[in-house]
Amino acid sequence: MSRLDSFIRRLVAQREILDMICRDMQLPDGVVIELGLGNGRTYDHLRERLPDRRIIAFDRVLGAHKASTPDRENLILGEIDVTARNFFGIGAGLVHADIGSGYDDRDAVTLAWLPEVTLQLLAPAGIAASGVRMDHPDLQPLPLPESVAEGRYFIYRKVG
Ligand SMILES: C[S@@+](CC[C@H](N)C(=O)[O-])C[C@H]1O[C@@H](n2cnc3c(N)ncnc32)[C@H](O)[C@@H]1O
Repeated sequence: MSRLDSFIRRLVAQREILDMICRDMQLPDGVVIELGLGNGRTYDHLRERLPDRRIIAFDRVLGAHKASTPDRENLILGEIDVTARNFFGIGAGLVHADIGSGYDDRDAVTLAWLPEVTLQLLAPAGIAASGVRMDHPDLQPLPLPESVAEGRYFIYRKVG
């Protein structure tokens, strides 16, 4: 599969998954955390689908389109494994992590801290969606929408 095909499938999967979570799943009360603001596309989508929730977006640098740039109090710049610590215990209903790089060695470094950081941000029974697999006993994998190929994206509920 070409990288273009793979990219398109990833974006379609993201939309399917975020739509399913916002439409069909019981999200606990609480903020939404967007890890990896990037261009701001998924941030903008979540903002449309969950208009009543505060969304706090993280990235190491601001690269978002002006129309998808959060206001200052909801934009946290710096390395997420450091900046997210100030938000531990915030009780997020949803954490969306789109910080996979496409390089296995770099993603392995991210995976050393991402599951624990995600758990510290989530409310009990909160939902996480991630572009990289997170193996942790307190993150229960949930089924993907039928249209999304296994392994393309991952959904979890915080348990324990
Ligand atoms: C694939 S892009 C996110 C795209 C975004 N979801 C969108 O729809 O436009 C990944 C982003 O995560 C950021 N990122 C990756 N690892 C990070 C880290 N450890 N700390 C902070 N930002 C990180 C990168 O700077 C990049 O902007």
